[in-house]
Amino acid sequence: MSDILNAAVIGCGAHSPGHFRMIADEPRLRLRGIAELDNQRLQKAASEFRPQGAYLDYRKMLDEGDIDVVYVVTMPGHLLPIVIECLQRGLHVSVEKSPGMTAEETAAMASAARASSAKAIVSFNRRYFPDVLAVRRLVQERGGAIHCAATYNKPLTRIGHGKMGAITPTALMCDAIHHVDLIRWLAGTTLERAAIPKAVFAATNHGSRGGTDRQNAIVQFDSGSLGVLMSHYGVGSRIQRAEVHAEDFSAYMDLTGDHNIELYESHFEPGQGHGIGSSIEGEIDLESVGGADFNETKHFVDCILDDVEPWSTLDDAIHTMRLCEAIYSGHQGPL
Ligand SMILES: NC(=O)c1ccc[n+]([C@@H]2O[C@H](COP(=O)([O-])OP(=O)(O)OC[C@H]3O[C@@H](n4cnc5c(N)ncnc54)[C@H](O)[C@@H]3O)[C@@H](O)[C@H]2O)c1
Repeated sequence: MSDILNAAVIGCGAHSPGHFRMIADEPRLRLRGIAELDNQRLQKAASEFRPQGAYLDYRKMLDEGDIDVVYVVTMPGHLLPIVIECLQRGLHVSVEKSPGMTAEETAAMASAARASSAKAIVSFNRRYFPDVLAVRRLVQERGGAIHCAATYNKPLTRIGHGKMGAITPTALMCDAIHHVDLIRWLAGTTLERAAIPKAVFAATNHGSRGGTDRQNAIVQFDSGSLGVLMSHYGVGSRIQRAEVHAEDFSAYMDLTGDHNIELYESHFEPGQGHGIGSSIEGEIDLESVGGADFNETKHFVDCILDDVEPWSTLDDAIHTMRLCEAIYSGHQGPL
């Protein structure tokens, strides 16, 4: 295989520029084609991101061949047939989150990936934030997470109800899934592996207006770690925070805008009978986790060229999707 891969993007809506930028910043990718049903959006993306070809019909683009990897950036309700078709054609696929409308749809995509010679990555981009990876490394060096927690709050949302209900699942699954997945990732015990949820104790109070998904949950993981998720829509502002604790170590991460990471460690003082905690000063080490520019796209290209599975496969995403379903329904007990 050539070490330059031809990339295509299907769906040129609001979120696509993030993928176009990551593709442009990755020297091992060339933007071969884009496809979008809406001609205005197609022309706008074509003039801005300069693909070799722009198509209203994604099948025409795929039929012309010369494509190695496809980014499917449509709404969750449109992903399933496109992702399956790309995998059946032997094309590597990046799948937006949520990977489908239900865990069952994710499982159908995962089954197509297993039958394909190609690889698939789910765009759980929080997993690939360099500062999250650096914190995770510090936690794993100290024996793994004891406890992790994530908050994902937003104002009222259109996701998951009204007209949007046909193409988006619940706001928890479509959007706050980032932090449902993040607690799995923080609780994971190795570089490549997210923890598997074993039990969930969730309480929900979804509010009387549409667009107000509200849920709190305690999750027990196979790693022995406990996780807490708090996610509320129709509250004050968009706030995305997480924390993770290991023996004598704590990290608090504000991922809302410009990231802010606070680290603490404690030492046992002989003769004092208790530990003394202090903040860890200095820059967090991003070089050891791929550098400040590391992202999901670089990881996926590495995986394709080195023939290894990505960290966020479709098979793995089934666990996150099932966890979303359990939390949303107020599940109590083993999964
Ligand atoms: N990772 C993140 O932080 C993040 C943030 C926002 C959105 N997203 C995800 O990105 C995806 C897209 O979101 P968006 O806001 O860009 O949605 P959008 O509605 O603005 O864009 C989706 C586009 O896909 C196009 N499309 C649908 N079916 C198609 C087909 N068969 N062929 C070609 N084009 C087709 C639509 O015409 C539309 O323009 C969603 O799954 C969403 O959950 C992720």
